[in-house]
Amino acid sequence: MRRKLVVGNWKMNGSIAINKALLEALIAGVRKLDNSDYVVCAPYPYLCQTQQLLQGTNIAWGAQNLCSTDNGALTGAVAPHMLVDYGCRYVIIGHSERRALFHETDDTAAARFLAAQGAGITPIFCMGESAEERDSDWTEYIVGRQLDSLIRRFGPYVLNNAVLAYEPLWAVGSDQPATPEQAQEVHTFIRKRIARCDAEVAAHVRILYGGSVTAENAEGLFRMPDIDGGLIGRASLRAEDFIPICRAADATTVQGLEALIA
Ligand code: 13P
Repeated sequence: MRRKLVVGNWKMNGSIAINKALLEALIAGVRKLDNSDYVVCAPYPYLCQTQQLLQGTNIAWGAQNLCSTDNGALTGAVAPHMLVDYGCRYVIIGHSERRALFHETDDTAAARFLAAQGAGITPIFCMGESAEERDSDWTEYIVGRQLDSLIRRFGPYVLNNAVLAYEPLWAVGSDQPATPEQAQEVHTFIRKRIARCDAEVAAHVRILYGGSVTAENAEGLFRMPDIDGGLIGRASLRAEDFIPICRAADATTVQGLEALIA
């Protein structure tokens, strides 16, 4: 039985005042939701503030990227051990915005993935196809290639300490979420592909869905058997949107448990 996980990706948003109000509301709103896991990924300058406010709560925090090497002459880069200093337990790797706007590739994402694990941080590894790729029926080819960029290099067992996220590019920031059935189909594909290497790893790895998740559509997505939670962009910036998504995760974890027992 996999616990649901909800991750807020703030992207390049926030300020000290806005974050304080948001985090205080989140702390109060998810305090009693014991059945799932919650994470906020803040921009680097706010990791200290995030740590100060979230430590001792049931919300973990993380960053949105890291550099694959340690200290060095790399202007503007942030090393894994620096994230550890601020208590980060998670880091997003290979987000489609990093791939498209900052020229990240399967190779650089794989290197960052390994560097995160080396520092004891759980990578949240993003995969997904563009609208054109979906229209050309290339979804499995693209997502399979991105997944293989990890499995071929490092073997399936690296996924024991990782989270995967399926984020179709056409759904990110678009108000056009994948339907639960569309997302489930790709999540099944991902899990089966991992199972070809190791069934146990496939059964345990959490695969999140991301792309226009809202308070309204979260529960329908999270009820699908291979969707283990969400990676949330815009709706993570407002407590009144994010808390119901966390509640949907909590409720669907409980429903899954009840179905197992019945
Ligand atoms: P939206 O939820 O704003 O579509 O963004 C999704 C995303 O990119 C999360 O990483």
